[in-house]
Amino acid sequence: MTYSVETLTAEHAADWLKLRLEGAELYPLGFLITVEEASEMTVDRAAEILSFGGMRGLFFQSQLVGFAGYRPERLARTRHRAEVGPFYIRTEHHGKGAAGDLMMAIVDEAKSAGVEQLELFVDTENARAIGFYEKFGFERIATHPDGVRIDGNSRSDHFYNKKLRP
Ligand SMILES: CC(C)(COP(=O)(O)OP(=O)(O)OC[C@H]1O[C@@H](n2cnc3c(N)ncnc32)[C@H](O)[C@@H]1OP(=O)(O)O)[C@@H](O)C(=O)NCCC(=O)NCCS
Repeated sequence: MTYSVETLTAEHAADWLKLRLEGAELYPLGFLITVEEASEMTVDRAAEILSFGGMRGLFFQSQLVGFAGYRPERLARTRHRAEVGPFYIRTEHHGKGAAGDLMMAIVDEAKSAGVEQLELFVDTENARAIGFYEKFGFERIATHPDGVRIDGNSRSDHFYNKKLRP
């Protein structure tokens, strides 16, 4: 399947909002936001967030089928690093290389910008996402206890990073 990746802008706000809500509903371990928080966001607010340029979209036949946050650090002392996430691909595109295309586009963009380390957090029980990140060379560095509470229940997440060679 042929996928393309582009930076999401205000014009993608309505589609991105729908996908984000779908992701929060289907994969609670994959998102920090609750379904209620995802439902409350307006298209205008989504447009404002996308206008900052920190979200990459994955397209299949001109439809948005996935997205990933990509946030390079700006300060002199930390700009070798960038944070990735949230990372979401619609279920029908799982296991088809879609997520890999999105990740590789981010890796290429980061390398071109001189970023040397990608970083992310993933719930310790999100086995599929962990399998995906490890397949792409992310290494587990630490576990963050009680980093998230879902309906009052404490959860932990792993901190992963991937070194990029310029
Ligand atoms: C995480 C996500 C982007 C990965 O995309 P994907 O297309 O499903 O990933 P892939 O199929 O390429 O890779 C997953 C790997 O984990 C493996 N895997 C699947 N389930 C697994 C499990 N229960 N335990 C261990 N490994 C597992 C798969 O076999 C695959 O490895 P392989 O290609 O060597 O067989 C996608 O599943 C998704 O959007 N999930 C919902 C949102 C989410 O959880 N996002 C992550 C937030 S941190």
